[in-house]
Amino acid sequence: MQFCHVIIASMDKKEKIRELVDRLNCWQRAYYIDSESLVSDMEYDRTFDELKELEMENPDLILPDSPTQRVGSDLDNSFPEFTHTIPVLSLDKAYSEEEVLSFINKSSKKENARLSFVAEEKIDGISMVLYYSEGLLVRAVTRGNGIVGNDVTENVKTIKSVPLRLSQPVSLAVRGEVFISKKGFDSYNRSLAEGEEKAANARNLASGSVRRLKSSESARVDLDMFCYEGFWNVKGEGPEEHLLILRKLKDLGFKINSHISYFASTKEEAERKIKQAGLEADAYSISDIKSYIDKKTKERSSLAYEIDGLVFKVNELDKRENLGYTEHHPRWAIAYKFESPQAVSRVRDIAVQVGRTGRITPVAILDPVRLGGSEIRRASLHNQEYINALELSVGDTVSISKRGDVIPQVEEVLEKNEDSSLSFSLPSLCPSCGARLEKTGAHLFCPNRDCPDRVKGEITFFSSRKQMDIETLGEKTVSLFYDKGILRKIEDIYTADYTKALSYDGFGEKAVLQIIRSVEKSKEQSFTTLLSSLGIPEIGKKTAEILVEAGFDSFEKLERAKEEDLVSVSGIGEVSARTIVNAFSDQRLLNTISTLASCGLKTRDEKEEGTLDQIFEGTSWCITGSFENFNPREKALEEIKKRGGKTTSAVSKKTTYLLCGKGGGGKRADAEALGVKIMDENEFMSLISSSFPKKEKVVLNEQLELF
Ligand code: IVH
Repeated sequence: MQFCHVIIASMDKKEKIRELVDRLNCWQRAYYIDSESLVSDMEYDRTFDELKELEMENPDLILPDSPTQRVGSDLDNSFPEFTHTIPVLSLDKAYSEEEVLSFINKSSKKENARLSFVAEEKIDGISMVLYYSEGLLVRAVTRGNGIVGNDVTENVKTIKSVPLRLSQPVSLAVRGEVFISKKGFDSYNRSLAEGEEKAANARNLASGSVRRLKSSESARVDLDMFCYEGFWNVKGEGPEEHLLILRKLKDLGFKINSHISYFASTKEEAERKIKQAGLEADAYSISDIKSYIDKKTKERSSLAYEIDGLVFKVNELDKRENLGYTEHHPRWAIAYKFESPQAVSRVRDIAVQVGRTGRITPVAILDPVRLGGSEIRRASLHNQEYINALELSVGDTVSISKRGDVIPQVEEVLEKNEDSSLSFSLPSLCPSCGARLEKTGAHLFCPNRDCPDRVKGEITFFSSRKQMDIETLGEKTVSLFYDKGILRKIEDIYTADYTKALSYDGFGEKAVLQIIRSVEKSKEQSFTTLLSSLGIPEIGKKTAEILVEAGFDSFEKLERAKEEDLVSVSGIGEVSARTIVNAFSDQRLLNTISTLASCGLKTRDEKEEGTLDQIFEGTSWCITGSFENFNPREKALEEIKKRGGKTTSAVSKKTTYLLCGKGGGGKRADAEALGVKIMDENEFMSLISSSFPKKEKVVLNEQLELF
């Protein structure tokens, strides 16, 4: 006994830590990837604690792949932007079996070859790219806009099926889907305390969890990840077929969905290839595609996780390269999307909603039911005529669909309630303010512009993500601030004393500071965005763009515009022109605009804010790598265009400059080969700084100084 003790004491601590880490990782891999339990919980916990203790005594010996690094921390994370080193494309979609067949035929024809295809389930989660360097996980980045994503490494490390270290010291990027199983989703919602908001669907929960500020909170949700594409840093290092890539990813330690199907010209050939690859997959002949889709459609509801379609991919990588890419999609793959699903539920009640324009919408309140991955509790009934056409009453059993997979609506009455005399009529008075409702077309409207629900809707719309993007002012906060009297009209957003909120439940200093900051930040939004956020009738995103393009690029010009000026703009009809002119003669809107202007918001399109010297006229630019001052790097392209330069996506003989940031690769080599001048960020900054428009003095919100 004593002898044994001496050996352990003298054993190199470093080796001991390595050994414990390897043992724990092996058990974890077996459990989370292969669903196999190799040890008892007690044995696992004992070993884990032993490792933790050793690490605590020797913090400099903590290994990056130690399982203790997965438990998450309570420190606030930030999610810095990261420029992907691989193109993170999305897939073209097919909505029918015919479209899939046409994709298969077209690609085979183009390649003049009998291609083989791999079909996978389209996991309804969030897209993630894992970057490994010499076998170690160095970064996990969300898809973002396909070029730049958010670095969420600390949170992704908490996903047990994501290997922290691979079985070989390779450097590669791997794409996959982070998701949460149906069971994990249900148990999360069940675990919530009363009053806590339930997650709407598994995808939202996965997406929210990956972005939690504290990784310890991500660790509390049962996230999982299937990987499906690998991109080796060194060309030629990875396999040449998708089937073999999946096999390789599996060998490296990634979790691969076992529901893979392989289509070759005959089923026998497919079987042979699958066997060769040593993978678990179903073998099909290409002529079986239709029956495969039917089978998977039926199987969908019995899967342990949500899928929203199937993905068909060309197996041969050299053929993929030949088929190429459009701007956003590879031409070698297609996503078959399932038809929007329907569900059955019972109408408990009909609520009446007042929108920001005053429009009244009846909404069915349903027995909660799952549909396409979400729990549905409400569905639109549009208007009284729609209700009449359905002959709907409270208590009826109805079918619900999700149009375009977003807004649920009641489709038909399947079974009437017993007491069918309970038919439903919309009220004649506004449920929010009591004003008499007015009918325009098929809809009822509340005419009162001070109606609380209307104003709340206007403010919420103004701050919504696609508009001014003030994320701290969501529906609930706006409603509370309205009720408390802090926010009573749009412009109050910029003049309100948010420190008053410190006395409200749930608003600490941090929350209030965040509100003030996000309000400040929204002042940078473009004039076009501001114009389309004010709820001016007829001026949505598209019309705002048309107006600005046509030269109505400031509030001043719009205020002066006459009906005939606007009608002459292509895309603006007579009715819109009249409505817009009327809107800009309304004192309320003019007051709003003048307050917004005095608070430092953009009252004219930026192009007008001082003309820039056209120093790049006649030059053509290409860009590569990542930049300190331009993130995403497209911002640098904007600066070039504003100064008269042209931009292209590839280096050619005609390119004048390659603007090269950190990590620029292939394009740099192209530029060198073609003798194109390479410019670095510093040089570029000094070139453009001379022609930057003068910055207006930044009006800082003095409330910030209170913190
Ligand atoms: S392949 C270049 N395979 O669906 C091809 N995507 O637009 C990359 N997805 O953004 C995608 N399951 O997030 C692929 N088995 C699968 C998938 C899958 C889910 C997601 C992915 C992508 C979107 C398609």
